[in-house]
Amino acid sequence: MLIWLRNLLLFAAVLECNTQDSVNQSTRVQTASEHEMVKLHCTYSTSDSYPYLYWYQHKTNGFPVYMLRKLSTGSSSSEKEFEERFHADLNKSSSSVSLSIQDLRVSDSAVYYCALQPTVTETHKHPDKN
Ligand SMILES: *[C@@H]1O[C@H](CO)[C@@H](O)[C@H](O)[C@H]1NC(C)=O
Ligand SMILES: *[C@@H]1O[C@H](CO)[C@@H](O)[C@H](O)[C@H]1NC(C)=O
Repeated sequence: MLIWLRNLLLFAAVLECNTQDSVNQSTRVQTASEHEMVKLHCTYSTSDSYPYLYWYQHKTNGFPVYMLRKLSTGSSSSEKEFEERFHADLNKSSSSVSLSIQDLRVSDSAVYYCALQPTVTETHKHPDKN
């Protein structure tokens, strides 16, 4: 995802966990001005019923910073600096998670990554055949 914010760019790229679980940020270019609100979209695909969806912010010359995560049950948690203006909405029926940024600031210019993590390592219950 690529966002023009004044003269600055916001990017987002696709992270793939494995061939089965993936995320897709179809919007690569988006334009926005300061104090506007933007919504970054990400769709995911997983066999996990309760995946965690994460958003990371990656500024130029920095490391990706964990912002927040959303569980498909609806619960979420955010890092303090992202609590106020950043919100994620997860729609399980459309397998999408969007990140809203309110009151955009130039300092929000960054690459925004969406990532998926299955919540549980699947444990297969084998029916007892005895
Ligand atoms: C991502 O989503 C877009 C729009 O829905 C679609 O055109 C594209 O093929 C998808 N890419 C992948 C890798 O699934
Ligand atoms: C979630 O996605 C479904 C399917 O696209 C749509 O019908 C529904 O309105 C969405 N729900 C919300 C809360 O956006």
